[in-house]
Amino acid sequence: MLDAVSNEPFVAFERVQKSYDGETLVVKDLNLDMPKGEFLTMLGPSGSGKTTCLMMLAGFESATHGEIKLAGNSINNIPPHKRGIGMVFQNYALFPHMSVAENLAFPLEVRKMGKSEREAKVRRALDMVQMGSFGGRRPAQLSGGQQQRIALARALVFEPELVLMDEPLGALDKQLREHMQFEIKHISDNLGITVVYVTHDQTEALTMSDRVAVFDDGRIQQLAPPDELYEAPKNSFVAQFIGENNTLEGVVETIAGERCTVRLDNGSVIDAMPVNVTEPGQRTRISIRPERVEFGRDRLTDDAHTLDAEVLEFIYMGDIFRTRLRVAGNNDFIVKTRNAPGQIRLDPGTTIEIGWQPEDCRALDA
Ligand SMILES: Nc1ncnc2c1ncn2[C@@H]1O[C@H](COP(=O)(O)OP(=O)(O)OP(=O)(O)O)[C@@H](O)[C@H]1O
Ligand SMILES: [Mg+2]
Repeated sequence: MLDAVSNEPFVAFERVQKSYDGETLVVKDLNLDMPKGEFLTMLGPSGSGKTTCLMMLAGFESATHGEIKLAGNSINNIPPHKRGIGMVFQNYALFPHMSVAENLAFPLEVRKMGKSEREAKVRRALDMVQMGSFGGRRPAQLSGGQQQRIALARALVFEPELVLMDEPLGALDKQLREHMQFEIKHISDNLGITVVYVTHDQTEALTMSDRVAVFDDGRIQQLAPPDELYEAPKNSFVAQFIGENNTLEGVVETIAGERCTVRLDNGSVIDAMPVNVTEPGQRTRISIRPERVEFGRDRLTDDAHTLDAEVLEFIYMGDIFRTRLRVAGNNDFIVKTRNAPGQIRLDPGTTIEIGWQPEDCRALDA
């Protein structure tokens, strides 16, 4: 690993752009600082540039513009094998002609490590992913999940300080996926490894990461810890992409400090917190989470605005109730309530009054 320059972020992207064809930018303006030991996830729709960013950091693609730094030093001109980075690829790419143990020994041989030390490290890495007895098998003789674990072990075997993982759990069933999420998090925390992780599974991103970078269209739309991302999305894309979200459209009517009122397109008025709006007359899309919608008048302030809602569907889900409403022309307005003692079950066909705390409803870009 390169010598650290003090006070510098461990990984830094500075105004990085990438074009494959010399015309369209698939990464438009990437700025990102990561401290050592951070677990950062790049989350975003297909084609948004996540793998490209990882490949540039690993050194398999070059940046068209801008600089990538590791421990304060520019790595633009350093070849992949000299960057000291462990990588789990999107298709896990094990060497098919080598046994599991040989696959793991390979990065150590490249680093000119002696045989006995190599064997000890391979054994430890296999144990770490609970594959200790599989050293002699070929990748083709393993299940998808087992191959994925070997790919993970191979990325960790040379004890890199930085590991990049591109959809490492893509091929796994739900149960093994959740188990491996826990294992990866555990291993990286224990070894103090800095991780850049790519997924398009938002639950995975929220549960594993210190921070999540939400990508869309070659840009980071928001970079924040999971709770901030969910509770304080900066724009409509993030609000819609992370978690379940109700939206209604309208025009800002009044605005003062942390409060605004919005006249919805059906004429009714609601309370919100201005996020991406600054003055009356602007079009806005308001965002409210299903668990923050209130339908008991006693849980709202006296001056709160409310909306009429028609109950369309009630779904019992065990731990929660999920109710679908028609609100201001939106037939997919969802309310979630906890199955707590005395909780009301809303009846389809009835009309209720809903509202919310203004700070729970965000007025975003339309
Ligand atoms: N080698 C390549 N040559 C040309 N275009 C490419 C190449 N690799 C990726 N692209 C294009 O760059 C854009 C970003 O691709 P990238 O693989 O980074 O997306 P991604 O966010 O990883 O998507 P996914 O979730 O599907 O893996 C896409 O439009 C893709 O078609
Ligand atoms: Mg990808």
